[in-house]
Amino acid sequence: MNRLPCTVIVGAFWGDEGKGKIISYLALKDKLDFCVRTGSVNAAHTVWMDGKKYALHMVPAAFLHEKCRLLIAAGANVHVARFLEEVQLTKVEGRVGIDQNASIIEEKHSVQDKTSAHLKGLGTTGWGVGPALEERVRRTAKLAKDIPELQPYLADSVTEINEGIDQGKKVLLEGTQGFLLSLFHGTYPYVTGRDTGAAAICSEAGVGPTRVDDVMIVYKSFITRVGTGPMPGELTKEEAQRRGWFETAAGTCRDRRSAPFDFELAKKTAKINGATQAALTKLDCLFPKCQSARKFDDLPREAKQFVKEVENQTGVPIVLIGTGPEALDIIDRRKQR
Ligand code: IMP
Ligand code: MG
Repeated sequence: MNRLPCTVIVGAFWGDEGKGKIISYLALKDKLDFCVRTGSVNAAHTVWMDGKKYALHMVPAAFLHEKCRLLIAAGANVHVARFLEEVQLTKVEGRVGIDQNASIIEEKHSVQDKTSAHLKGLGTTGWGVGPALEERVRRTAKLAKDIPELQPYLADSVTEINEGIDQGKKVLLEGTQGFLLSLFHGTYPYVTGRDTGAAAICSEAGVGPTRVDDVMIVYKSFITRVGTGPMPGELTKEEAQRRGWFETAAGTCRDRRSAPFDFELAKKTAKINGATQAALTKLDCLFPKCQSARKFDDLPREAKQFVKEVENQTGVPIVLIGTGPEALDIIDRRKQR
């Protein structure tokens, strides 16, 4: 099942499942032709290559594959300064494009995010994504085509992507955040300002549901959450540290709260997103003996059992398993299946 023509990557929980790592692996391994970033600057995707760390807020995580066309979706929301900075950092000038209809997030939105009474207590990232999207709904937002600095990058990404799919090119639609942060399906009001599910990712990119071949859901071996809102099974920070699960956010550097893997949430997310494949990241944090393993057979028995349990309960095959931070620290089971 090494299919990849058009695949949607969606985060299973509250974000930070390791989508950046999975996307960077697929970019290199499958030689992706297109990678389309959705969402906005609040989400950071971490990519590690040769000991170097990138925390990407705008540029698609597939940038490691030099032939990949990188696009920012029509439904996405662009932070101009951050985008220009990351283009330099990742050296993707010439192959990165922004859809002309993507909307723009401005400094005033960040100020509104931090000072609006109705947002108090939600633990937003402070980038201003909620206020920027409100402005888009009001039909007063600036679009990418209105911004002089973005002129060299403007693209009709929707046509490019759909023609790519027509030609059988390998297209990846990069979801941001996690499904449980969805405005429609998450833990409202402790959610982000948009739907984060697979269908919404397609909608932002301008790809019809019948054109998608696979939905790959990304689970992490334990759950983390930044900001406020419910989280079943939450551990104390001390317990998280003891288990080696304590993390800080890639974007905001805030402490991440953590909890053990939750099978009920995993099942719900798989079903509503129509997942056909899954990735499971950070297995080495649960079972340290897995560190950097590249073969399923090399995993300790308890780790194999955990993987099988997730598959049995969700009904979704786990085709990629993350065993370390680097893009290539992956067990790829697609050929065997
Ligand atoms: P906002 O998206 O900045 O409005 O924040 C709303 C909620 O979503 C807060 O709890 C944030 O911590 C959370 N959130 C937003 N973006 C991300 C992300 O990329 N990863 C994890 N949590 C996020
Ligand atoms: Mg993140």
